[in-house]
Formats: sequence, structure tokens, C-alpha cells
Amino acid sequence: MSVDEDESFAPGAGSVDRSPGPRGRSLVTLDDYRVAARPLVEPSAWDYVDGGSGDETTLRENEAGYRRYRLRPRVLVDVSHCDPRTTLLGCPVALPVGVAPTGFQGLVSPEGELACARAAGEVGALMVVSTYATARLEDIARVARGPLWLQLYVFRDRATSEDLVRRAEAAGYRALVVTVDAPVQGRRVRDLRNAFALPPGLAAANFPQAPSEHPSAELGERVAQRVDPALTWDDLAWLSSLTRLPIVLKGVLTAEDAARAAELGVAAIVVSNHGGRQLDGSVTPLDALPEVVAAVAGRCEVLVDGGVRRGSDVLVALALGARAVLVGRPVLWGLAVSGAEGAREVLSILRAELETAMALSGRPDLASVDANLLHPAPRPPYHPL
Ligand code: FNR
Ligand code: LAC
Repeated sequence: MSVDEDESFAPGAGSVDRSPGPRGRSLVTLDDYRVAARPLVEPSAWDYVDGGSGDETTLRENEAGYRRYRLRPRVLVDVSHCDPRTTLLGCPVALPVGVAPTGFQGLVSPEGELACARAAGEVGALMVVSTYATARLEDIARVARGPLWLQLYVFRDRATSEDLVRRAEAAGYRALVVTVDAPVQGRRVRDLRNAFALPPGLAAANFPQAPSEHPSAELGERVAQRVDPALTWDDLAWLSSLTRLPIVLKGVLTAEDAARAAELGVAAIVVSNHGGRQLDGSVTPLDALPEVVAAVAGRCEVLVDGGVRRGSDVLVALALGARAVLVGRPVLWGLAVSGAEGAREVLSILRAELETAMALSGRPDLASVDANLLHPAPRPPYHPL
């Protein structure tokens, strides 16, 4: 289930029978969606979605990190109704799983973010829309039925970022998610080898193309030209002055930065290494989560993303103190397989797996999910099963 080059992280995967059962259901797990999506996506776009930076060590470890944990189920608990509902920044959501911001969803599905927003809305999940969406944020808001947050890259050209903030506010987005782990682009070896550029006709839809920007230039270079590598903590005051929306920082991995963010009054932190696409060799979000949770000491909400592929992974993240998780690539697999229906199905599978895991671990609601659910001795780091 990890990158194909290293099957040692998923030794069982090759032996799983993926043929449909007698009544024809072949897409039962998120991994089934990955396998089904791959041939449907143009190879260089697949590499962009699937790949990470450097040796892809961090990419692999994000998923493998979840396999270190073992659950301590409690028995003889009434689990006839398991309720995965929660709130995020005060807004009710049907499950503690949201859609991570991923740019250029039009690469994998013609309707891109519009399909994704419909899917998230049908499931009652949060969707975080990327600065690099291929649909206009107002159009996404029109089709959405659930809460939307806008992920913001702060551009060198501040006027463009200010415009995005104002439009997000006007369109009813409920938070701004400032991504702080990408001041420069990670070295994504697959994209560099492919000289990956957007296909003709596809573009970021929420800001005009700069006159100096060539549409066929490599995507990584185009993003790097825009995003301001000089952004610091001091700029958060400028951002807060523009908006009444709560500010979320995405890409925090240390107690030091988490404490500083909480002191500055951010509403939430997403513990993330950008799905292994930025600093290869960085800690996994799961490893960083406990120190972040301890450092913020309840002053803000803590979410986590990277490598969540099963409902039981969600339970592990929550037991370590996250309020919710975000999922990136799996939603893109769903979009690639069958648009809104596929993305909805991916989120529904996670929800069904989560509810099953809640029932089988004797935790009928999220309030009963705490550190006690985890066996105190995680398996050694990243050791293949
Ligand atoms: C991303 N991610 C991302 N993050 C962000 O803040 N802004 C963005 O525009 C993007 N774009 C993007 C594109 C693609 C194709 C991927 C795969 C990822 C990172 C994303 O929000 C999230 O952190 C990771 O995807 C989480 O890891 P998983 O769930 O993909 O393992
Ligand atoms: C990425 C950028 C868009 O990860 O954040 O591809």
C-alpha cells in the first residue's frame, strides 16, 4: 500500500485477493481505490499525486507509523450506537475525518474540487480547499453542503493573498489554513524527472496568472515563484488584521512552534509534514503529535494528517490527542475512479471502518477515545510487520 518501489512496507498487500466477490464489490478499502485509480490517471500526474520528496522516506513512514500502534479493546460496552460526530472550531461535523487541501484536483477528475465538495458535503465532512484549486472558491462554496476552510499560501504578492482572504470570507469559508511547511518546494524527484507541468487547459482558478508565468513551466517552479519564502511569525499579525476568520497553521511538527502558535492565538494546528512532499527525513505527524498536544495544552484544536488509510488509524490519532484527521491522496483516488461518487465512497469507507473500530474497541463515542486505548509499548519504529 505504500509506494510500489518498496513492498517491504506492505508485505501482505500482494496476497490480498482484489477480485470482486460474487455480488461484484471490488472497492472495499482505500487501498482498493488506489489500485483502481492508478491506471486512470496520466502517469506524470499520478507521480505528482503519489510521490513525495527526496528518497520518499517520510512518505513511507507516514503510513508505516500507524502500524506501530496496537489497540486495547474494552468489552461488554453497549456499542449498539456508535457516534463519530464531533465539532471543528465550533462547527458540527459528522466524523473526525476531513479532506486535506490538495491542489489541482482537476488533474484527476474533470469536476475536480466541485465534485470533492459535493462528496464531503454528502458525508458531512470538513473540506479544506487549496489555494491551488482548479475551481473558483465561490463555485466550490455554492455546491458545498458542509463546512469549508480555505488553505492559504501567502504569496510574495500580498495583494493577491489579501484578495483570496476577502473572497473566502465573503463566500462563507469558516477558517484560513496557513500552510507553513512549504516556504520553498520540496525536491520531488519524480516531478523533476518528469519535468511535470500542468496539462494545457488546466490552471489554478483563484488568481490571475502573472505575466512572467509561462503555463507550460514546471509546476514546482511556478509555485515557488509565488509563495513567499520570507514569511515569519510576525506576518501572522498582518494576516489576523485582514480577517475575522480563525487562523489555522498547517505543517507544525514541534512543541516549540506549537507553543508559539498557541500563544499567538491560532485557533488550530494541523500537525503535518505535507504528506511527505516537503522535508524528507522529517518526523512523522504521529511521532510529533503528542508533543504538540502537550505544548498547546488545550489552547487550540489539534488536527493531524499524513498516511491515514484506515478507520483504526483515525482512532490511533484521536487516542494520541488529535481532534480530527485530514486525508489527502485517498480522496484523489476516489475522485479519479468516479468523481464525486468515488470521493464520497472513500470517506464513507473510512467512516464505516471507524465505526466498526469504535464498536470493537468498546468506545461508542469520541469522548471515550483516549490514551488508554493504546497499548503502552508501540512496536519499534517503522518495522515491517
Ligand atoms: C497536497 N498537500 C497540500 N497541502 C497544502 O497545504 N496545500 C496544497 O495545495 C497541497 N497540495 C497537495 C497536492 C497533492 C497532490 C497532495 C498529495 C498533497 C498536502 C496535503 O494537504 C496533506 O498534508 C497530505 O496529502 C496528507 O497526506 P496523505 O493523506 O496524502 O497521506
Ligand atoms: C503540493 C503543493 C501544491 O504539495 O502544496 O503539491
